[in-house]
Amino acid sequence: MRHLLDPFDFSVEELDDLLHLGQAIAADPAKYAHVCDGKVLATLFYEPSTRTRLSFTSAMMHLGGNVLGFSSANASSASKGETVADTIRVVSGYADIAAMRHPLEGAPMRAAMFSRIPVINAGDGGHQHPTQTLTDLMTILSRRGRLDHLRVGFCGDLKYGRTVHSLMHALSRYEGIEFVLISPEELRVPRHLIDSVVVPNNIPCTEVTSLEDAMPSLDILYMTRIQRERFADKLEYERLKNSYILDAEKMKLGKADMAVLHPLPRVNEITLDVDNDPRAAYFEQTQNGLYMRMALIMTLLGLAPTGPLADKPLAFLQGAEKYPDDPCQFRNCITRTEEGLIPLYVRSESGELRCAYCEHSKK
Ligand code: NCD
Repeated sequence: MRHLLDPFDFSVEELDDLLHLGQAIAADPAKYAHVCDGKVLATLFYEPSTRTRLSFTSAMMHLGGNVLGFSSANASSASKGETVADTIRVVSGYADIAAMRHPLEGAPMRAAMFSRIPVINAGDGGHQHPTQTLTDLMTILSRRGRLDHLRVGFCGDLKYGRTVHSLMHALSRYEGIEFVLISPEELRVPRHLIDSVVVPNNIPCTEVTSLEDAMPSLDILYMTRIQRERFADKLEYERLKNSYILDAEKMKLGKADMAVLHPLPRVNEITLDVDNDPRAAYFEQTQNGLYMRMALIMTLLGLAPTGPLADKPLAFLQGAEKYPDDPCQFRNCITRTEEGLIPLYVRSESGELRCAYCEHSKK
């Protein structure tokens, strides 16, 4: 059995198969209308969501399956203090596959460790959001015809933007990728991502603050929302919330074949006058999310034309060491609240220990 918690859980070849399947579904969705007849998807959403939860639900319905679940922590036994481990043990008896969104980083990983069904990470805190990445990859592929040799600019909240972290993981495995990281000083990409993804893969990467300066050289511009709900200091959010606003005037600085992506929802970081620019790809991106989630559900259930995936341990548990008396100090890590959890750490190439659940460095 396989899960998807981080894009690294899938090999490049497996991702290619998924993307081909997503494209085949997009070309003829009706052909797949009964692939999941009789199957049940559980959507376990402990945090608000529009697109992700609805697109998972729609994906399973378009495959002929059924969906059950909850859409806020208040509506689940989490409000009574139930652990993620217990919840998934119960849900494993009710559903064939589960998609989990949780405000605490590493919660879907905790679930996967106790699950008898495939678990999909639908967003864990500011950590990862691998199904958004599938959506993003399909959009980049359809716009640019390739996933390699691209200069990709990420702009906005690169600290808490989990979609950025997952897409950086995924793209780091393709030839000729360059990153331009555009953010205020306070919202730079977490150091562990630079150390674990950029440095070992020798990816040319610049960190800058000016969107205008970066624009002219970009093939892809990935805009993000400043993630208000993840700020410990609300005044800092107020100070940073208008850091970047992409408008029609700034679009004039971009290449004619650049594509603008955004995971949505947007607040004010892309003005409405950009929507009609042919380079705006964000609504097409949400549509691709449906096809890629259909492809993913089929694949994890072993119902894809390419057959079941080979068994493989979770990317982040490989080589993990137990430190029972040393809980992770990151305030949004699942290890802080989950009863009965033994802290696990992974040693990075530089010898540093990082929490296997949230990837933050061990203090
Ligand atoms: C993103 C998320 O939840 O991380 N939204 C989504 O799933 N499409 C981005 C965001 O909330 O800003």
